[in-house]
Parts: sequence; structure tokens; C-alpha cells
Amino acid sequence: MKLEVFELERFQSEWEHQVEYNLTESGIQPLQVKELLTSENLISKMLDIRLGYSQTNGTIPLRQLVSDIYPTAGVDNVLITVGGAEANFVSSWYLLKEVPGNEIALMLPNYMQIHGLWKNKGGKVNPFYLYPRDGRWQLDVEELKKAVTSNTSAITICNPNNPTGAVLDSNDLKVVVDLAEDKDIWILSDEIYRGAELSGALTPSVFDIYDKVMVTSSLSKVYGLPGLRLGWIVCSSDSVTHDLWTHTDYTTICPAKLSDWLAILALDSSLQESIRERLRDHLRSNWTVMENWLQHHSDVFSFIPPKAAAICFPKHNLPMTSLEFVDRLRKEKSVLIIPGEQFGMESYFRIGFGYEKDGLTQGLNRVSELIESVK
Ligand SMILES: Cc1ncc(COP(=O)(O)O)c(C=O)c1O
Repeated sequence: MKLEVFELERFQSEWEHQVEYNLTESGIQPLQVKELLTSENLISKMLDIRLGYSQTNGTIPLRQLVSDIYPTAGVDNVLITVGGAEANFVSSWYLLKEVPGNEIALMLPNYMQIHGLWKNKGGKVNPFYLYPRDGRWQLDVEELKKAVTSNTSAITICNPNNPTGAVLDSNDLKVVVDLAEDKDIWILSDEIYRGAELSGALTPSVFDIYDKVMVTSSLSKVYGLPGLRLGWIVCSSDSVTHDLWTHTDYTTICPAKLSDWLAILALDSSLQESIRERLRDHLRSNWTVMENWLQHHSDVFSFIPPKAAAICFPKHNLPMTSLEFVDRLRKEKSVLIIPGEQFGMESYFRIGFGYEKDGLTQGLNRVSELIESVK
């Protein structure tokens, strides 16, 4: 079977380092190593680390810190992975192989990793969409119900959502949970942007409200540490968590030893709070730039402000496809944004505003130049 290409990641891999202004990132400017190493003592401890294999499911101190993020989780519910990417890979693989039914109900628009993984492993994907209605992104309950059949093993959501930055409101989340409970199926919830809410109010985790759940996440977005490649699955069943661990023997064996060690520093309570505060300040202040720019082009864009993450998903009325515009933007203006087609929605762009402020302003100015010349 031919591999379904993960268009979004391919596109970023090809171009993100070739342009002057990369406005595709969904996170903020990453931290520097020295921001984690806050004392001479820590520097010297790090220099003494032997670079052997690490505890393959993550060290106990790290799993303890991750479990603390979810009040009802314990260390045995946590599997450390190489980024959220491996967390999604392993949980999808497990669901498809070990759980009856080869279908998933998948929320769209979405970071398309689980979509592609599932199809590449021979499964069937039944989509249900978020729709922009009454100023927010909402589920269509009937569509969701239709997406769940007798062959469905899991409902998969991305909440907060990539690419819209939307957070499911409590009614919509309850509909998802009630339906899963009624059908006795899993929820796979990618919550990598949980903690990156502009308002600071934490999105509820499905882990704390449903008991047949795998939550995937990582340090890449909220903690500004994508280069550590450090993620996790938090699973409601200890024995399934153990089974998920047997899968990582075939993928990466273990997280990098240095990453496990540095992740413990990042999740330490004092540093964790300041890292998250830094994120919120940056998101709020850059969103002002982004929002002003969108309003300046109100004849071209309609948009719903994101509730979380450094991304927004405006709809445009330009006389060309998003793909064509993005291609010209890259070639003529050396700016990269993501065409909506890569999330299964045409006439949209995903624009990241996590860049440092001057770069964001300059990049957006160049997008304006192209808009003015084509509209
Ligand atoms: C929704 C979502 N899940 C998972 C990932 C992968 O994250 P990581 O860099 O931690 O592997 C991303 C990356 O952009 C994402 O947006």
C-alpha cells in the first residue's frame, strides 16, 4: 500500500528553513538550554551525565511530574515518548491492532497525523467537523453521531484544536464523552496545546472526566521545548499503559537521556509556572499584532479569535486557492504560511503568530503586499 504523505509536516520540512519569515509554527520561540540550567550546580550535574540508555518508559521522577498535571493519574498511567508524534503513533497503532473495530471518528480540521497514520495502517477514518457558527467553532452533534459506527474503536479529538486554536466548550465535550461512554469506546485526545490558552483558563482534560482514554501531549508547545522531543501518553488503564510501552520497544526504545533529565527541570513547579507565564504573555501580546493585521484586511478575512496556541485560521476570499497564494507568497515574498487544504479545508490559511514580534510584523507586512497585488 502506498504511504499517504503527511502533507503538513512534508511542507514544513521542505520550506521552513528556506524562507526569511516562517509563520507556520504553532508554538512560540523555543527556550534556550541556559534557561533550564538556572545554577552552576545544575550545569555541573548535567556535564556529569553518562549518555547511556534511559529508563525506557521514562524515569519515575519524570512520570511523577507528568502525572501531577492530571489530578487523577498516577505514575503507572504515564508512558514517556519521543514527542507528541510518537505518542500519537503508538496510541493509534495500539488502537488499530488491539481494539476491535478498524474505524475511528476523527475531528476535523486537525493536525493530520492520526488521520494519515490510521489510513496508512489500513483503518477507516470517519470525519466529523468543527464549524464556525455564532462566533465559535462548534461540533455538529448529528454528524459526530453518524461518524461513530458499530465498527468504531475510538473517537479522536484535538483539544485545544490545531489549526483553529478552538477549545471545545463544556457542552460539546460532554457530547463526545457521553457518546463514547454509551458505545463503550476509547477517546484518543491530543491535548498538546492544553496550557497554551490565551486567557490562562486551563482546558479540561478528557483524562479527568472519562475512564477509557488516552491523552497525548508533549513539551513542544506549552513549554517551548520541541527540540527535546519529549512527549507522553497518559492512559486511564495501567495495563494498557504497560501494553503501549511494549510498542515503544519497536519504535525508539527510550526517550533521550538528556531530554528526560531536562524535562524534569522544565516540569519542576517553580520553573514550570514561569515558563507558562512567559508563553501566555507572548501569546497575548503577539495576538494583538495578529488581530490588528486581520482587522486591517477585514475585506479579505473573516476569523474567529483562537482560544489557545499561537495559531489562527482565518477564511479568505482571495481570487485564488490557498495553495496558489501560499506558493506565490513563498516564492515572491519569502514568507511561509500554511494553506487550509492541508487541514482538509480550502479558503483558509493557518498563520502562526508565535514568532518574535518584529519578525511577525515584518512577515505580515509582506503578506499584505501580496494581498494588495492580487485582490
Ligand atoms: C496537534 C499536534 N499533535 C502533535 C504534534 C507533534 O508534536 P511533537 O513536536 O511534540 O512531536 C503537533 C505538532 O505540531 C501538533 O500540532
